[in-house]
Amino acid sequence: MKVDDIKTIGVVGAGTMGSGIAQVAASAGFKVVLRDISDEALERGMNIIKKSLSRMVKKEKITQNQADEIINRIKTTKDLSDLKDVDYVIEAVFEKMEIKKELFSELDKLTREEVILSTNTSSLSITEIASATERPDKVVGMHFFNPVPVLPLVEIVQGLTTSDETVELAYQLAKKMGKTPIKTKDQPGFIVNRILVPYMNEAAWAFMEGVGSAEEIDQAMKLGANMPIGPLALIDLVGVDVALDVLEVLYKEFGDPKFRPAPILRQMARAGHLGRKTGKGFFTYEDKT
Ligand code: CAA
Repeated sequence: MKVDDIKTIGVVGAGTMGSGIAQVAASAGFKVVLRDISDEALERGMNIIKKSLSRMVKKEKITQNQADEIINRIKTTKDLSDLKDVDYVIEAVFEKMEIKKELFSELDKLTREEVILSTNTSSLSITEIASATERPDKVVGMHFFNPVPVLPLVEIVQGLTTSDETVELAYQLAKKMGKTPIKTKDQPGFIVNRILVPYMNEAAWAFMEGVGSAEEIDQAMKLGANMPIGPLALIDLVGVDVALDVLEVLYKEFGDPKFRPAPILRQMARAGHLGRKTGKGFFTYEDKT
């Protein structure tokens, strides 16, 4: 398959990442089938997309007409079998290996054999996800960054069994979606999260130890290290649960105590204080999208 043969992309998961990926794909002219398991999840996902597009209309980056066309290219569904005719799949569901393996096994049975099944996982093993399919050479990581419409990078992750052709196609597709791909090997956290998430974790430890308030820690990193947002606001943006999941993987896979998650993250996850998406994390938010 060539990149120009890809007309329709199936996106599985309409959360923060899945909706952003669907938006970027539709903006690049692809038809998108966006799947999640409930009407509420799909509605929330479409609201995130509409809000992001209307921001772009306001900034005169796109016209209202273009925004409408982008929305019209996205079809939502709760039925996975609606992905049976797509030309490429990008999965963006919860960071739980068992869920991903089950899903990839279903997608493997459902889609045409030449279709590449990619995952937006931020830290799980591509090689292990691929092992749940009969096409491990066609499973690849395509890791986008939050907010997807704004950040240019996509990490293209080659698992042990991923073919060079698959990597090349994912690379070309990311470019066609207007992104800048960088190839990386299947190591926990790939490039960005291996470096970025321990930084966020350290901020959570500092907060727990009373080094400063959440505001002070974040202001310090913005003013003293020129970060666009502080590390605690970044945890809220990414999701406390997601940051914790990534840390757990880094900690377990490397077996190195430097990745030990700050206990406050686990407490916050248990309390449902997941950051922006629930309206409360290290900071509070009126708008949950
Ligand atoms: N959709 C469309 N446009 C958006 C947007 C969205 N969701 N969010 C922000 N923008 C646009 C704004 O309209 C604005 O546009 P202009 O430059 O034309 O004015 C621009 O982006 C900057 O936004 P703001 O002025 O509102 O605020 P900001 O300067 O703080 O930028 C930000 C927002 C781009 C999110 C910035 O804070 C930032 O880069 N933060 C760090 C994000 C980051 O590190 N993400 C990686 C997280 S790790 C991850 O995702 C991987 C993982 O697996 C855990």
